[in-house]
Amino acid sequence: MSVIVSPSVLSADFANLQRDIEMLNGSEAEWIHIDVMDGVFVPNISFGFPVLSAIKKHAKKVCDVHLMITNPQPYIKQFREAGADVITIHYEAVTHLDSIINEIKNTGAKVGVALNPATPVSVLKEVIHLLDVVLIMSVNPGFGGQKFIPYAVNKVQECMLLIGSSGSKALIEVDGGVGLNNAAELIAAGANVLVAGNAVFGSADPLQTIRQIKNATK
Ligand code: DX5
Ligand code: ZN
Repeated sequence: MSVIVSPSVLSADFANLQRDIEMLNGSEAEWIHIDVMDGVFVPNISFGFPVLSAIKKHAKKVCDVHLMITNPQPYIKQFREAGADVITIHYEAVTHLDSIINEIKNTGAKVGVALNPATPVSVLKEVIHLLDVVLIMSVNPGFGGQKFIPYAVNKVQECMLLIGSSGSKALIEVDGGVGLNNAAELIAAGANVLVAGNAVFGSADPLQTIRQIKNATK
């Protein structure tokens, strides 16, 4: 299976969101990455339910919702109803991880857990078999356009080992500072899903950039 590209609409033109979603519909990206930020878990506020619903109305791709919010549990059902196909919560933002994983699964959505750069992959040992996605953050979450943290590559490899030893079918997603300069290395390390915001929307030819990320080889 080739890598899935999940362009992050955090870098889209919010005044022309429908145009940008339609561009992605016509691209080789299989997922659309939607970053929800609360100004508490991360030092930035992005958008919430109304914007997700508006994207869902036009999107023909999987809506990959990354929740950078403290205590997301009360809002899971509402994110599912607003159109999330994949719901990823942060390990660092929840107290009862097993409980929220099951709550997400019960909505019918795919479930992901994201790890900040300094959080080791080993914290997922007991729950890895329950997950559809492990999201390895390769920047400190909060903003698009940040510099890639190189040790995230080692975490992708560690995650591969954990998945292999547990029989889990989880996909490994990498988010932050991903682009043409590191896509091949991440794919070689075992990444299955690459999030790209600035690299796609800052490109003169986003469709070509998506294709190049998807086909990057070392
Ligand atoms: C960062 C977000 C990312 C961000 C990626 O907190 O989770 O999804 O949009 O943007 P780039 O690819 O520009 O680093
Ligand atoms: Zn994200």
